[in-house]
Amino acid sequence: MNDRSERAHWTGRLGFVLAAAGSAIGLGNIWKFPYITGKNGGGAFVLVYLACITLVGLPIMMAEFLIGRQGQRDAVGSFEALEGKGSLWLLVGWGGVAASFVLLSFYAVVAGWSFDYILKSATGGLSGKTAEEINALFGELVAAPGRIVFWQFLFLAATAGIVIGGIRGGIERWSKILMPALFLLLILLFVGGMLSPGARAGLEFMFRPDFSRLTPPALLDALGHAFFTLSLGAGTMITYGSYLEPDSDLLALSVRITLLDTLVALLAGLAIFPVVFAAGLEPGSGPGLVFQTIPIVFAGLPFGSFLALIVFILLAFAALSSSISMLEVSVAYLIDEKGWRRSRATVLIGSLAFALGIPSALSFNRWSELKPLFGRTFFDLFDLLVSSYMLPLGGMFVAIYAGWFWKGGEAKNEAAALSPRPWIFPVWRFLLRFIAPAAVLFILLNQAGVWR
Ligand code: PFF
Repeated sequence: MNDRSERAHWTGRLGFVLAAAGSAIGLGNIWKFPYITGKNGGGAFVLVYLACITLVGLPIMMAEFLIGRQGQRDAVGSFEALEGKGSLWLLVGWGGVAASFVLLSFYAVVAGWSFDYILKSATGGLSGKTAEEINALFGELVAAPGRIVFWQFLFLAATAGIVIGGIRGGIERWSKILMPALFLLLILLFVGGMLSPGARAGLEFMFRPDFSRLTPPALLDALGHAFFTLSLGAGTMITYGSYLEPDSDLLALSVRITLLDTLVALLAGLAIFPVVFAAGLEPGSGPGLVFQTIPIVFAGLPFGSFLALIVFILLAFAALSSSISMLEVSVAYLIDEKGWRRSRATVLIGSLAFALGIPSALSFNRWSELKPLFGRTFFDLFDLLVSSYMLPLGGMFVAIYAGWFWKGGEAKNEAAALSPRPWIFPVWRFLLRFIAPAAVLFILLNQAGVWR
């Protein structure tokens, strides 16, 4: 086991913020946020989402950073360092390791599609096509098991290639390249959206609240997505927090990360909806929004292939900076708890995630009729398990732990361990003690179908 002095740490605040924001900003922001916003009617949903992020997401993110920073070990080891061997809280760490691993396995499948679309748009494969042809292209891609497994493999190999480089030389270095590039591309697309004739309709859609559309399922989408988009409940932020120096201001860091994540989600919506409206299409067109609607819309625009290329590079970069954080959780566990070398741990976990991801890849073709449980394919089952149960539950236990049981660990002054601003502590603890667990209970009751 590493002692504190030899453990790797981020080079500084910027590196940490970019890496953690990289984890948070992912397919969730660019692929999922716009379509659940579309599905739930826009403005009012955005408001509720912002409330969930601030009242539930932000305090849990601070709690995860705190646990990691005080523990100075991986997600499981940090709980052990704080609570001792054999404590039941270790299960929360284990849950995080499991969640991030399963998530990595199917996330890589969708992320791989962005590689295929980068190739398509770079080689002109999307230009001059009709809407039907573009829709068919997506169908053809997911129907070809060999092709999507190939891209899934390549995506995981890229992820492992970065993680093998370690905290400073791999994750931080690449986050410092991927994130600024991502912001630049997104701003370009946003400007494109604002210049499009649908700009007004897009802005109204995102920001004019229509409260009649705020149904319980919409509230739930907002809350569930808050966990997913901030990478909570998966051990990721605990692990990244464990590479922080002891004197870091967790509030200031978490606010920056949360703001960046929210900004990217909103910009992605503002880049996408205007062009969708300008083309006279519907916003809530489901997960196909990025892979079908966007290429269809861009096919009719000047520089359309170039814009499509930007969208898919953006998507790949966002996915990659998230997947490295998922892989790091298990890798850190093997390094810190089992004394493995980083390279060996990375190759093993990467290969296992690839193997576990194959049933998810086959869920779109060969095994699309294979529904092992609850009438769902493997992909949908894993997604349900992780996004609807493991992340909210993991986040809830982190909240309960930090709110009710954390005794300050090594910190002499609990409040100061969190932020130099003393008023933060009671607010933070109140949100963790009462609001966050109540919110998760609401999600779970609904999953159980209580008011359907
Ligand atoms: N936050 C990522 C996204 O929005 O795509 C997803 C994610 C990454 C969830 C890492 C959980 C995690 F540990």
